[in-house]
Amino acid sequence: MKGYEKYIPFVPQPIENRTWPDNLITKAPTWCSVDLRDGNQALIDPMNMEEKLDMFHMLVDQIGVKEVEIGFPSASDTDFAICRELIEGGHIPDDVTIQVLVQARPHLIKRTFEAIQGAKHVIFHFYNSTSTLQRKVVFGLDKAGITKIATDAADLIYEMAQPVLASGMDLRYEYSPESFMGTEMDYAVEICAAVLDHLHAAPEHKVILNLPTTVENCMPNQFADELEYFIRKLPGRDRAIISLHPHNDRGCGVATTEAGLLAGAERVEACLFGNGERTGNVDMITVAMNMYVQGVDPELDFSNIDEIRQLYERCTKMRVPERQPYAGDLVFTAFSGSHQDAINKGFNYMEQSGTGKWEVPYLPIDPTDLGRVYEPIRINSQSGKGGAAFIMNHKFGFDMPKAMHPEFGEIVQEESDRTGKELKSDVIFQLFKEHYLDINAPYRLVKHAFHEETVDGKSHVTFTGTIEIDDTRFIVVGEGNGPIDAFFNAIHGQKMDKYTFVDYKEHAISNGSDSQAVAYVQLRRQDGSDIFGVGLSHNINLAPLRAILCAINRDKLQRRKAEAEAAQASER
Ligand code: KIV
Ligand code: ZN
Repeated sequence: MKGYEKYIPFVPQPIENRTWPDNLITKAPTWCSVDLRDGNQALIDPMNMEEKLDMFHMLVDQIGVKEVEIGFPSASDTDFAICRELIEGGHIPDDVTIQVLVQARPHLIKRTFEAIQGAKHVIFHFYNSTSTLQRKVVFGLDKAGITKIATDAADLIYEMAQPVLASGMDLRYEYSPESFMGTEMDYAVEICAAVLDHLHAAPEHKVILNLPTTVENCMPNQFADELEYFIRKLPGRDRAIISLHPHNDRGCGVATTEAGLLAGAERVEACLFGNGERTGNVDMITVAMNMYVQGVDPELDFSNIDEIRQLYERCTKMRVPERQPYAGDLVFTAFSGSHQDAINKGFNYMEQSGTGKWEVPYLPIDPTDLGRVYEPIRINSQSGKGGAAFIMNHKFGFDMPKAMHPEFGEIVQEESDRTGKELKSDVIFQLFKEHYLDINAPYRLVKHAFHEETVDGKSHVTFTGTIEIDDTRFIVVGEGNGPIDAFFNAIHGQKMDKYTFVDYKEHAISNGSDSQAVAYVQLRRQDGSDIFGVGLSHNINLAPLRAILCAINRDKLQRRKAEAEAAQASER
C-alpha cells in the first residue's frame, strides 16, 4: 500500500441549489477571541497570570474584542485563578462578555459555575465530540449515547443557570459539537436541535451553536456546503447564533472562515496571528483585515499592529513569521524590480490624481492603516533599476531624473551581486555618496566667481575659475547666457571639454533646518554614451557646476580604471 492510500477521503455533503457562492461578506461577524484558551493551551509555556492579563487588556482595550474565552476554569487551577482575578480585579469592561469552556461533564460544569460568580456577562460554553471518528475511536458510543451526553449537560446547565440568571447575571449558552466538520450533517442537525430544545432556546434567548473545524479535513467550499445544509435543516434556526471555530490543518483556516460567513455564519472564534492547537486557530487579524480591504468595517482595531505583535510575542513566546499577512516583517516590501516600479507608479498616480482610493499595485493595503510605514522597496539582486532610485527619493530626498535610474541601478545591482545580500537603505545611500557626492577628483574647482549682467532683459554671465588636476592648476574664463553655459564655454579647449551637455535637473533638499540645492547633470561622451554627475551646494549656481565636474571626473576615473586593467591584462 502506498503512503497516501491509507487515508480515508472526506465525504462531501450533497446539497442542491447551494446559494453561498453568490453571497458577499458585507458586515463584521461577532468576534470571540480564544487566545486565552485555545491559543494558550497550545503554547509550550502557557501564559502566566500577568501575561494573560496583558493579553486580555490588549484584546478588549486596544483591539475592541467584545467576547473573550478566558479559559477552562474547571480544568486547571490557573484557569480558575485568572477567571477570578478578571472578575474580582475589575478588569472586565461592562460591554465585554467573558466566555468559559467546559466539557459536558457534571462535576466540571458545577466547578465552572463557581468560577463565574460575580461576573456581569458570561457565555457558558460546553462541548462534546460528535464526529464519526471520535464516536468510534474515542467514545465507543452510538449517536444516541453521544446525544445524551450533550442533552444531559444542557439540562444541568439550564437548571444551574436559573438562580444565577435570577441574581442578575447576563448568562448565555454556547454548545459546540466538537469535530463538526467530520460529523454527518444530519446527525449534527439532530444533536444541535436537541441541545437547543433542552436549553429552551428561543429567538429572544438565542443559543450560540459553535461549529468547530476542530481538525480541518475538507476544502473550504465543502465546508460551506456542510454549513448551508446544516442551517437549512436546523429546526428553529432563529433560536441560534451560528458560530465558526476554524482550525487550520489544511492551511485553509481563513478561506474556511470566509466560506462559512458566506454560508450564513454570524460569529467567529479566532486567535491573534493564528495561534492555537497544532496549525493554529484561524487568524483573527487576517480575516478582519481581509474584510477591511474589501471596504467592510471589521469592527476591530489593528491600527497599531506592531505593538499588538510585540505584546503577543512577549506573552506567547511565539514568533510572527516574516510573511504573515498584514503583520510580517516582509509584507510591505517588494524585491522584484517590476513590482518596485509599479508600486512607485501607484504612489505617483495617487499623488497626482488625488484619488481618494487606494490604488497601488502589489500593495493590497495602505501600511499606515496598520500603523506601519511603507518600508520602501528593498533591494536585492532581483531588484530593478527603479527601486534604488525610489529609496533615494523617498528616504533621502534625492529625486534623480528618470534617465539616471538605470546608471545608479547598475551600481546598486553590482553591489548586491557582489555581496549576495539584501542592501539596506543606508548602504544604498553610501553607494550614492561614494559614486556621486564624494567624487571631487581628479578635477577640482579650487575657486570661482560669477559675474552676472542683464542687458535689455537678457542675462549675461561670466565665469572665472581655478581648476586643479593632479597638482596642476589652471585658470578658465567663459561667458554664456547662464552659469552652466558660461562654465562650459570656460572649459572649452581644455582636455575636459569632450562632452555634450544633454540635460540637467535641480531641486532643493533639506536636512533639518539646512536646505541645499542638488543638481543632476547628464553629459554625452563622444562615443554617444551618457554619464551622470551630481552636485550639492548651498549655492544654486554652484550645484550644477559641481554636477558637471562630478560627471567629468567619474568618466575620467572610469577611463583610468579601464586603462589600468588593460595594462595589467597585457602584462599577463
Ligand atoms: O477546536 C475545537 O473543537 C475546540 C472546541 C472545544 C470548541 O476548541
Ligand atoms: Zn479549537
